[in-house]
Amino acid sequence: MDKIPVGVLGATGAVGQRFVQLLADHPWFEITALTGSERTTGGVYREVCRWVLDEDIPEAIGEMTVQETDPSLPAKILFSALPTRAAKSMEPELSAAGFVVCSNASAYRQEPDVPLIIPEVNGEHLGLLEQQKANRDWNGLLVTSPNCTATGLVMALKPLDQVYAVRQVFATTLQAVSGAGYPGVPYLDIIDNIIPNIPGEAEKIGQETQLLMGKFEAGKRVPADIGLSIQTNRVPVIDGHTVNMSIKFEKPPTPEEAIQVLREYRGSVEIADLPSAPDKPVLVRLEPDRPQPRRDRDTSQGMSVTVGSIRPDPLLDLRMISVVHNTLRGAASGSILNAELLVSRGYL
Ligand SMILES: NC(=O)c1ccc[n+]([C@@H]2O[C@H](COP(=O)([O-])OP(=O)(O)OC[C@H]3O[C@@H](n4cnc5c(N)ncnc54)[C@H](OP(=O)(O)O)[C@@H]3O)[C@@H](O)[C@H]2O)c1
Repeated sequence: MDKIPVGVLGATGAVGQRFVQLLADHPWFEITALTGSERTTGGVYREVCRWVLDEDIPEAIGEMTVQETDPSLPAKILFSALPTRAAKSMEPELSAAGFVVCSNASAYRQEPDVPLIIPEVNGEHLGLLEQQKANRDWNGLLVTSPNCTATGLVMALKPLDQVYAVRQVFATTLQAVSGAGYPGVPYLDIIDNIIPNIPGEAEKIGQETQLLMGKFEAGKRVPADIGLSIQTNRVPVIDGHTVNMSIKFEKPPTPEEAIQVLREYRGSVEIADLPSAPDKPVLVRLEPDRPQPRRDRDTSQGMSVTVGSIRPDPLLDLRMISVVHNTLRGAASGSILNAELLVSRGYL
């Protein structure tokens, strides 16, 4: 098929660069527009972008001019890596103008008619687009991807919830510096240190977990009712968010049963053939010192969440640790998978 023209909004940032890297060779999508703030618009991408990834900037994309974010962009799908404030004002304008907007920003994740999607976990929530169509005078649509840490938490919990019903979760996060964007956290604050405060993050993770784990009934999203206690920390890791969690279930599994369920989990069959879908959304490591961000974040091109240290918990039922690549599965790759799902369902 002819490739679908796509734009990347906020293409010079930490997540925007991942989009550029991933979309350069995508079988369905072709980058036709890149945008940035006033700082970079009008400049040549390779000159104005402080590229931080190991691979070089894709040749042809490096020569593109960074544009303003407005409805004249030559694209059908827009991948938004805008900061929250810019997303708040620009994403509805672009959706109204007819674009399919796949957003990484938190601005609209909790709107009742905006789907918040991890395709393997809750693809059926795309049904909210019917409400969105009825509520808003938009020629396009808006779909969001979750907070990167919520992604790592939910992808580890969902397989177990389906069988044993999760009731309570106590979670402590160890979040990489790339999660704060570029240039992000000052090095004098983070080297040789842990910062036990990421403003607003624990609330976002909690609320989004309830939405993602919730049901879709009679055209509406019904949030899950899970007790959550979350503490967030920024740690001196470049990429990869770790979540240490203790879980209480309605029907507690043994560690062996939990391992088997996580290993057998494939998520929704609908997505198996999408180009960015991993064979296994969740991988289990049995070594006592895994998962680790440096060793496990890139598994399946950064699309699988790795879970390990699955043990009995003396207070709740089970303990375990998950690692997710925050700018891949937790941001750009997750958003591209959402767009692939929209295409396969005929939304374009
Ligand atoms: N980092 C992660 O792990 C992660 C994970 C999930 C979701 N997210 C979300 O993804 C979004 C991007 O995060 P990030 O980490 O990539 O941030 P970032 O590194 O700070 O990048 C922000 C990007 O937005 C552009 N920008 C800023 N103001 C703009 C405006 N008014 N109009 C157009 N473009 C504008 C910047 O362009 P200039 O370079 O031209 O200033 C830059 O390209 C945020 O909403 C964040 O919450 C991030």
